[in-house]
Amino acid sequence: MQPPSLLLFLFLPSLLPGMWADPEAQPEVIQYLLTGVFANISSAEVSCVVLVEDIPVIALHPANWSVHFHWPWVSQAAAEGEGEKLMSQYKIGLRNMIRFVHDMVQQTKQHYPVVVQSRAGCVLYPNTTRQGFLNVGWGGRDLVAFEVDKQHWEVQQASQVAELVSKRLNKQKSVTVLLEHLLATWMCHNNFVTLKKYGREILERQELPVATVFARTPSPAQLLLVCHVTGFYPRPISVAWLRDGQEVPPGPALNTSSILPNADLTYQLRSVLAVTPRDGHSYACRVRHRSLGTRSLLIPWENGSRAPTISITIAVLLLVATASAGGFWWWKRRKGNEAAWDTQEFII
Ligand SMILES: *[C@@H]1O[C@H](CO)[C@@H](O)[C@H](O)[C@H]1NC(C)=O
Ligand SMILES: *[C@@H]1O[C@H](CO)[C@@H](O)[C@H](O)[C@H]1NC(C)=O
Ligand SMILES: *[C@@H]1O[C@H](CO)[C@@H](O)[C@H](O)[C@H]1NC(C)=O
Ligand SMILES: *[C@@H]1O[C@H](CO)[C@@H](O)[C@H](O)[C@H]1NC(C)=O
Repeated sequence: MQPPSLLLFLFLPSLLPGMWADPEAQPEVIQYLLTGVFANISSAEVSCVVLVEDIPVIALHPANWSVHFHWPWVSQAAAEGEGEKLMSQYKIGLRNMIRFVHDMVQQTKQHYPVVVQSRAGCVLYPNTTRQGFLNVGWGGRDLVAFEVDKQHWEVQQASQVAELVSKRLNKQKSVTVLLEHLLATWMCHNNFVTLKKYGREILERQELPVATVFARTPSPAQLLLVCHVTGFYPRPISVAWLRDGQEVPPGPALNTSSILPNADLTYQLRSVLAVTPRDGHSYACRVRHRSLGTRSLLIPWENGSRAPTISITIAVLLLVATASAGGFWWWKRRKGNEAAWDTQEFII
């Protein structure tokens, strides 16, 4: 059930912009995720998806291995430079990989079904260092990893399979040389630059967070203030509770969820602050996000019994000043004695 709400977003200039880590300073990642399910000696089902940051751009149809581009610009980007050659060869690579896995299962007398996953790509750090990576997992555990600089496969677990796989892979010098080239040069430079050039619009998409504050009363002696923030993109966000204008430090009273994905490629999270009812303090939820620029979203929680305070007055004035920007509505509702909701939300 939607909590009743008074909707009115209040943007305030961020008072301490320095405290908010630069959201641009995130590592950028491009990765190729591959999963192979080997049900028996004569079966292999392979699926593959390419992600730029958290956005899927290419997928492989498991049935026929045909490539699906999520956007027209991806096929343009894929055809550039060495991409075209790789596109004509990937099926050969997949067949070799499948033969290799079946071979390893036989030699190490493993039992089917076997699930093999690999993750390859490049990370671009804020200090402009680029690092290619290629990790392989077997049955959900890390098996081997390719050290790009050393052109060498390293075992990631003490097992016969890991030993044999790394030994066999390291023997194929032409493959390790090719992998180093693909990861360090193609993936980390050409592919990265091309995908980012064509995909700028989608990759730099920004969606504003929508925040709602409400209270729950699990017991007469406890009040839980909930700040629910949703619909934002990109993922990095800062959500804090202010008590009388001061940020509440981390502690047992504060519980912030992890950032969860929505179906429309936006994110959500909630932050819950446990307080004592009628403790005389004022509380507000503060949200900072790249889409807000240097401003913050500040949503005060007002105890229903108190008269509207100065922040509401300011909010209303700001609303009047920019009346075209949105709606304003107020619902107030109390439901039984199991939960009481008091919600304020401010939009401009
Ligand atoms: C191998 O597994 C596939 C997929 O589960 C199944 O369709 C096929 O019948 C199996 N073949 C044998 C020989 O067991
Ligand atoms: C491959 O399979 C998908 C669905 O599984 C289908 O939409 C697509 O048209 C197929 N492509 C080719 C080239 O057969
Ligand atoms: C850049 O940052 C990464 C990750 O923090 C680090 O591993 C790398 O050594 C740094 N490179 C330089 C040149 O400082
Ligand atoms: C935080 O909230 C989650 C989900 O509601 C709950 O499982 C967890 O126990 C809570 N942690 C604390 C420290 O209150």
